[in-house]
Amino acid sequence: MLNLPNQVTIIEVGPRDGLQNTQHIIPTIQKLNFIHSLQDAGIKEMEITSFVSPKWVPQMADHTDIVMNVNKIGKQYVLAPNEIGIQKALSLNSKAIAVFVGVSNTFNKKNINQTTLESMNTLTPIIKDLKKEGVFVRACISTAFYCPYEGGIFPEDTLALCRQFVDLGVDELSVADTIGMANPVESYSLFSLLKQELPNVLLTAHFHDTRQMALANIFASLQAGINRFDSSAGGLGGCPFAKGATGNVATEDVVFMLEQMGIQTGIDIQKVCKSLKHLQPFLKEEISSAQYKLYQQR
Ligand code: HMG
Ligand code: MG
Repeated sequence: MLNLPNQVTIIEVGPRDGLQNTQHIIPTIQKLNFIHSLQDAGIKEMEITSFVSPKWVPQMADHTDIVMNVNKIGKQYVLAPNEIGIQKALSLNSKAIAVFVGVSNTFNKKNINQTTLESMNTLTPIIKDLKKEGVFVRACISTAFYCPYEGGIFPEDTLALCRQFVDLGVDELSVADTIGMANPVESYSLFSLLKQELPNVLLTAHFHDTRQMALANIFASLQAGINRFDSSAGGLGGCPFAKGATGNVATEDVVFMLEQMGIQTGIDIQKVCKSLKHLQPFLKEEISSAQYKLYQQR
């Protein structure tokens, strides 16, 4: 018997993970239009930008304008790797902050110029303060399965890092296959382990679709009891500091698969595609998700 939930929560990461890896700088107004049209499509949780160094990720340099001008609908996450980013986010009244750390030291060093241990030492007192102030903390766990530099990651190492965050009181773990390398057996196995060992935290799966295994991984993770998935409209995205990383699984393709299986998402695929149609002229990349192609052929 399949283990399927009636409902799944999609956390849209397009405006952040999706756009951070795009070639052209997209005007802020177009990013806001994109966010607002995704809200109109029924997205209730979204990563809207990241407070990272503009020298490292120029596309996210307009984070302040995004947060100040976005319609405050649903749960809006901003990413922040350190004290500077978190203080900026708090000064703009952000209520949900996503920190990010890699299980792999080499990746973490390339991504945020610190080892994993250094990142945890930086973040530990900050997360404790955030929790005292009632901020929702999401911890994004990169390279949970594979690292582009170190290879396979031991599930126990991923569990150990996740546990450290849970002990600090984070509300959610978003566990990522950063380079789209995990297979469904590995996804089932890791998420079953995390579900069993960390029952009191929201668990979200974040799959990149580099090898087109993301939908299969989502199906396997559903079997492990996961009912929260990150995805990116149009399948855009990837971490600029993870060699070979490509886009996230496309929101519209995930929604189609889930709804076809009788699992509710509350998201309107046609409206997601319409938001992509308006974004496409500002992108160098061609949007090529299955649902978007079908939408264009109508
Ligand atoms: P650094 O060079 O070691 O930092 O970078 P620093 O402390 O020496 O500061 C250098 C400059 O950056 C200074 O400015 C700081 O003020 C500034 P300057 O004096 O040179 O003018 N700075 C900042 N500016 C804005 N916001 C900040 C900030 N911090 C310092 N928060 C740093 C360290 C963390 C800043 C840098 O490495 C960085 O910005 N990295 C971001 C990398 C990134 O955004 N990666 C993508 C997101 S993670 C991801 O995609 C994975 C995920 O999707 C899950 C998955 O798929 O795996 C979440
Ligand atoms: Mg990602």
